[in-house]
Amino acid sequence: MRALLAFIALAAAGLLTRALLMPPDYGRAPRLAAVVDGGKMEEFLQTAAEKEAVLRWVADGAPETGWPEVSAVLARRCVSCHYTDAEAFEILPLDAYGPAARAAEVAPILREKITGGTMGEYLESPKAQQALLAWIDGGAREATWPEAQEILSEHCVHCHNAEGVEGIPRLDVYRPAARLATMPEPAPRPFLIPTVVLVTASLGLSLYGRLRRSPGMATESSRTL
Ligand code: HEC
Ligand code: HEC
Repeated sequence: MRALLAFIALAAAGLLTRALLMPPDYGRAPRLAAVVDGGKMEEFLQTAAEKEAVLRWVADGAPETGWPEVSAVLARRCVSCHYTDAEAFEILPLDAYGPAARAAEVAPILREKITGGTMGEYLESPKAQQALLAWIDGGAREATWPEAQEILSEHCVHCHNAEGVEGIPRLDVYRPAARLATMPEPAPRPFLIPTVVLVTASLGLSLYGRLRRSPGMATESSRTL
């Protein structure tokens, strides 16, 4: 009985630690994982081991120590298209640790859509892209909205407006644009159940200890063992 309670308490403590350490859950995978795990870049990988190396690196939080192994894969399969070129449009360089690690994290959807995503092509110039990225990375503040609004209305708003393409968010007004330009609230971490289990099991353990110590109950509890 006692061993069982201790085991349950330990398992609950383990789950709590895991909940504490796990990356925040934004309801979608980091795109470096999404594109090679059933996504549109998977075809470029040639072995299961390559896919496994990329997915493991992303799941581990893109550690710098793992970069040599994963960069060898990216260099072979991806960098012919995804390379750094300061002058040109950013299509998500994967030839350096910094930008690759960034692709291994969930970013605001607006940032993703204009860097390697499907909306980048509409921006047409690196200058417009950089200005919009600066607005996003600066926290998408209302004070600087006019600068972003100018770019969006030139390149994006003819589809992204109330009467434009159906079912896509508006980019002609501040609020919906800012929502896409900032991180969503992550799902709450699963703390509740392991905490309740841990507290209950600990209470059970201490109660059990007390029962053992009081002589009247000792026979009672040893019979249940
Ligand atoms: C032949 C060129 C080419 C190769 C090779 C290539 N990509 Fe891409 N990739 C693109 C283009 C073009 C886009 C942007 C358009 C799109 O999303 O369809 C893109 C987009 C992406 C995106 C962003 C997707 C998004 O929606 O935000 C990621 C991540 C990505 N590629 C990763 C990879 C990885 C990892 C590899 C290697 C396994 C790879 N790519 C190989 C051309 C390539
Ligand atoms: C020709 C019409 C068109 C233009 C121009 C256009 N978009 Fe889109 N946009 C779409 C469509 C259709 C979708 C939904 C499909 C998809 O996500 O690829 C979309 C989706 C998006 C999303 C994802 C929204 C969500 O809730 O998932 C973002 C962000 C976005 N566009 C930003 C932009 C930006 C920024 C520009 C200008 C640089 C732009 N779009 C230009 C048609 C357009």
